[in-house]
Amino acid sequence: MTARLIDGNALAASLRGALAERVNVLKAQGLTPGLAVILVGADPASAVYVRNKVSACEKAGMHSRKIEYAADVAQADVLAKIDELNRDPSIHGILVQLPLPVHFDSELVLEAISAEKDVDGFHAENVGALMQGQPRFIPCTPYGVMKMLESSGVQLRGAEAVIVGRSNIVGKPMAMLLMAAGATVTVCHSQTRDLAFHTKRADILVAAVGRPRMITGDMIKPGAVVIDVGINRTEDGKLCGDVDFDSAQAVAGAISPVPGGVGPMTITMLLANTLEAAERAAEE
Ligand code: GUN
Repeated sequence: MTARLIDGNALAASLRGALAERVNVLKAQGLTPGLAVILVGADPASAVYVRNKVSACEKAGMHSRKIEYAADVAQADVLAKIDELNRDPSIHGILVQLPLPVHFDSELVLEAISAEKDVDGFHAENVGALMQGQPRFIPCTPYGVMKMLESSGVQLRGAEAVIVGRSNIVGKPMAMLLMAAGATVTVCHSQTRDLAFHTKRADILVAAVGRPRMITGDMIKPGAVVIDVGINRTEDGKLCGDVDFDSAQAVAGAISPVPGGVGPMTITMLLANTLEAAERAAEE
């Protein structure tokens, strides 16, 4: 069996078309959705992500502001900028690219973003709302994964879902969303004793560990839907996921590739959240 491909680029393109129509409606009312992205330091991967986010905004007809700081900037300067953006009516979404340099208190910085503009969904208020089943902003990557699962046609209710990775950005919110959709959820992590025991039971397997090709075909239940959130760089500079695509493809029922899977969906859901924030502002 060769797995069906869950094409993140194609799905992202169709969702972005629908978003562009909503952007036009707002623009006709004189309101252009605006996203501010703050990048601290010169991490090359973060620089690429931020560039892609800003460029996606422009293409969707939204306006964006990129604010860059050297790695040794004082935290107080970044907090002052966030305060300014919180009060700026032309900005509906604010995103601070993670990770921040070690002298930063990341939690404090994320909490400084107004919960109404927290399009990443990382503010404690928004994390709490998601946990209570009343999400205001769903974190972009797990939100994108849910859209991919929907598009794959897999039944979530009653399914065994296994997530590998327990990060605040992916693993934890992913668990909340899958639980809310009626799946039975297992979250595995670096201390999990027998990883393959769990992954082999999964009807839905989400890999978000950040370890290249760690999930191999022999760890996958035949017919499972496999979503690969990992973006790793191999020694020869190529991108690869957390799933060993070739061996997994022979076992899974459907699988997302890297690149061209979750990546474009994460950015699409950032656009969706920014638009949502702007629509709420327009209603007020
Ligand atoms: N770094 C890696 N993923 C993300 C994300 O989704 N949002 C932000 N702000 N930083 C990240």
